[in-house]
Amino acid sequence: MKVLVTGGCGFIGSNFIYYMLRTYNDIVITNLDKLTYAGNLENLERAHKDYGPRLTFVKGDILDSKLVSEVMAQKFDVVINFAAESHVDRSIEDSSEFLKTNILGTRTLLEAFRRSGGLFIQISTDEVYGSLGHEGKFTECCPLAPNSPYAASKAAADLLVQAYAHTFNLPVIITRCSNNYGPYQFPEKLIPLMISNAIEGKRLPVYGDGRNVRDWIFVDDHVCAIDLIMRSGKPGQVYNIGGDCEKRNLDLLHELLAEMECQLNLPPQHFHHLITFIADRPGHDLRYAMDFSILAKELNWRPKYSFEEGLKATVAWYIENKSWWTRIKSGEYIHYYDRMYKHRLACV
Ligand code: NAD
Ligand code: TYD
Repeated sequence: MKVLVTGGCGFIGSNFIYYMLRTYNDIVITNLDKLTYAGNLENLERAHKDYGPRLTFVKGDILDSKLVSEVMAQKFDVVINFAAESHVDRSIEDSSEFLKTNILGTRTLLEAFRRSGGLFIQISTDEVYGSLGHEGKFTECCPLAPNSPYAASKAAADLLVQAYAHTFNLPVIITRCSNNYGPYQFPEKLIPLMISNAIEGKRLPVYGDGRNVRDWIFVDDHVCAIDLIMRSGKPGQVYNIGGDCEKRNLDLLHELLAEMECQLNLPPQHFHHLITFIADRPGHDLRYAMDFSILAKELNWRPKYSFEEGLKATVAWYIENKSWWTRIKSGEYIHYYDRMYKHRLACV
């Protein structure tokens, strides 16, 4: 099987590539990635070493239609689009790259895909549905009601994918997953940010009152679902993917710190003085929760990892791989983070 992955140097893409290469001997993958601030070739160093010619890297932008057409001319069985600007806070600061990559980049891929064939899988997010109140879950039939520029750009991409499928009779599948966590996640997202800040003795910034709820899924469960969908999913279908694991941010943080204290042999509550409530994210969605019964019924998929297991593995990975995130945090990223954090702290 020949697979084209876009955005494979990011968090979920790199976990997907490792999973596929170690699970199947007959798969070859081409990874097209622009290497933005969130893309890191180092994430796939071991994969290139261990799997040699089964993994090819092409540095490039999904907006570059000439390059995308050249790459897709190799005819892939499946094209999986992970490439995106993915951080809500950055989209609030400046949405321009989000509209370019997430919408126009998806269009460029679809245009080339029309001529090359195969199956197109668009990796989308629960955030396209907007926010839930205290009750209920998102189903695939819920209307798209995005609240952040990031979510709006992903929703626009979903609509474009569906419109191309309808107009040009293309086999496409859209997956919408809840919040992922695990190895290689960029340390601007909640869990790796909190782990790395705690180890560095920095404050742990909780937006608003910390009561916002997210549904957490270990990244291996997400990539396993994508694999199943790629092999046996129905073209034309949208599949929700979730962890069945709703947590309020502050509760999650307490669990995370307790796990860190345990793994680092520190006394209970060691990190608690670092917790700092800062001004809320503008337009902060209250709650996400996924109904993934279509995926469960059709493909017999369920998340395998409990939150405790996933969290243990994630904390251990960030403790072991301190040099990975220290390098990232000492680059351009630190300026962005300091600016945003100081601004929010000043607004309290
Ligand atoms: P990420 O930010 O870690 O990685 C994004 C990758 O895309 C990076 O390697 C980056 O270099 C690449 N990229 C960005 N712009 C590009 C462009 N114009 N051309 C080529 N490559 C480009 O993101 P992630 O967390 O791995 O998310 C992957 C996908 O999954 C995204 O589409 C995101 O919307 C979706 N998703 C993420 C989550 C989550 O919790 N992280 C949940 C649901 C869905
Ligand atoms: P995040 O990891 O940015 O994912 P998303 O916004 O896509 O859900 O944030 C997860 C939750 O954690 C969200 O409710 C915002 C909150 N949060 C904080 O409280 N502090 C932080 O520093 C960050 C990055 C997020």
